[in-house]
Amino acid sequence: MTTAPDFGVSLELNLVEQRIRESLASEEPLLTEIAEYVIASGGKRVRPLVTLLAFKSVGGKSVGRVVDIAAALELIHSASLIHDDINDGGMERRGRPAAYLKFGIQEALVTGDFMFTKAFRIGGKFDDDIVDMTARVAAGLAEGEIRQKRHIGDVTLGPEEYFDIISRKTAMPIATGARIGALIGDARAEQIEAAGAYGLNLGMAFQIVDDVLDVVGDGVTLGKRPGMDIKEGNVTILSIHALQDGSVSDRSELIRILRKRSKDWGEVQTARRLIQESGAVPKARSEARAYGERAVAALDGLPDVDARRQMRDLVEFVLSRDV
Ligand code: IPE
Ligand code: IPE
Ligand code: MG
Ligand code: MG
Repeated sequence: MTTAPDFGVSLELNLVEQRIRESLASEEPLLTEIAEYVIASGGKRVRPLVTLLAFKSVGGKSVGRVVDIAAALELIHSASLIHDDINDGGMERRGRPAAYLKFGIQEALVTGDFMFTKAFRIGGKFDDDIVDMTARVAAGLAEGEIRQKRHIGDVTLGPEEYFDIISRKTAMPIATGARIGALIGDARAEQIEAAGAYGLNLGMAFQIVDDVLDVVGDGVTLGKRPGMDIKEGNVTILSIHALQDGSVSDRSELIRILRKRSKDWGEVQTARRLIQESGAVPKARSEARAYGERAVAALDGLPDVDARRQMRDLVEFVLSRDV
């Protein structure tokens, strides 16, 4: 799979990689091996990018500190993906078989826990407010996942509830990463708010695009199998639109498939086609773009520096990505 461009922070990103690798040393080589497997497979590193860019945009100087916290946040994210694949039955991740498929469910579970712990070992050295924000990210991810599970196969899910779920599981963690980056960069209160608003809106756009790619994406480029949301009965804004706008017969076929407990891949393909034919994709893309525009607007609250331009480019990347 492809990674994101480096947005002018390749040096710092490399330090984050190093920091992550160092943190994964263990007396149990299997834990290190599984964690390395997930980390070394790639990933777009959007969360560290956001944190580093927010830090740079406010003229932050303590690079070592921001590298540490960005590493902690990426560890939390990667750990949550290991657990997410167990929860969602995800088959591939970052272009390779999901960790639980390669190493076993118990091993993968424990590795996720191990990575959370390592993240807190790094994050725990910071001031109370940052520790608290980091803990909330981890808790928010869990809450978002549980809320999503509660609505499996729920074809009555409305847009508000969907936006609430994705803000918890994806946007708030990214927003927190942006706020922490600005905070460590000694930003003023309004700049921290601006960075947070940027991250929140970017994160909403990011998850909507992720959900679009589940319908239209290509597995090889994406590094994970598309159609998993449908397979798992995870109702996203795409199916919400299709259930609203599709023809009566398409809607009832889609409802039947989404509610069915075990679907075969033929049914998943049918659902993907029905969603596409309903016009849900351009609709969701324009919603993502609206969030992207709000993210860009929030940048007005940050100094007019190179990093701010990179943050704008990151919005474009998120909106147009196919990885
Ligand atoms: C996957 O996150 C989970 C979502 C919030 C959509 P990413 O798409 O950022 O995963 P990696 O880190 O690039 O693999
Ligand atoms: C992201 O949601 C889950 C987390 C934020 C942990 P998804 O379930 O949509 O992520 P993918 O599609 O499996 O990457
Ligand atoms: Mg998933
Ligand atoms: Mg997804």
